[in-house]
Amino acid sequence: MKIYRSEDEREMGMIAADLVAAQLRVKPNSLLGLATGSTPVGMYEALAELCQAGKTDFSAAKTVNLDEYVSLSPENEQSYRYFMQKHLFERVNILPRNTFVPDGTADPAVACKRYDELLDSLGRIDLQVLGIGRNGHIGFNEPSDDFPCDTHVVELSESTIEANARFFASKAEVPRRAVTMGIRPILYARTVMLLVCGEEKAEIVKRAFTGPVTPRVPASILQLHPNFLLVGDRAALSLLDGSMVC
Ligand code: GLP
Repeated sequence: MKIYRSEDEREMGMIAADLVAAQLRVKPNSLLGLATGSTPVGMYEALAELCQAGKTDFSAAKTVNLDEYVSLSPENEQSYRYFMQKHLFERVNILPRNTFVPDGTADPAVACKRYDELLDSLGRIDLQVLGIGRNGHIGFNEPSDDFPCDTHVVELSESTIEANARFFASKAEVPRRAVTMGIRPILYARTVMLLVCGEEKAEIVKRAFTGPVTPRVPASILQLHPNFLLVGDRAALSLLDGSMVC
């Protein structure tokens, strides 16, 4: 595990964007695994700026997103497809046909099967971007008794529904289910980069990356990844031993 510490959220976004841009320079046709949530917004903003300045190029890249709420269509402003269009896809030179997000409107079991077939056909993810939920979830892989390998339907935990309610008019509007990529393609990615900011994530960062590897804290499995980058601001990394940070 390699840890990059930024002073604040803005700098974290810029460090993360530079790492994605470096990946695209080395391999222009990279397959990028992408995440939603408020944490990667600054990275997407910085990537859009780099692309508009001609300093990075998405024209040969492909992207796969981690997850989508069951029942939300791409036109729904709270859907993850909408989020990706707004924050990244419409602002960089990626081809729309090269961007993939699970289908929230299909029958969930069918959407999962199709997404796994798609992931198989695309091959190994080159760089997987992740955020982390306050309970340690990655994508929508919630704490459970095992690490689910494949794309699956999840019942969102009460804490996730509460945390994500800020994006909806009310908590009642948050879908109770989501389709999420499983742990296998995440762990199989050549590089995994998890972004985290804010004091409220400090405790889960400590548990996930210095505690035992357990499906009760899904992100803890990243300790087993040979090329795992943790990019966080000072507040989120505050409970880690200083010697871990480079
Ligand atoms: C959602 C997403 C996750 C994300 C998490 C944290 O649950 N499915 O991929 O990591 O939120 O979001 P935030 O960055 O807003 O704290």
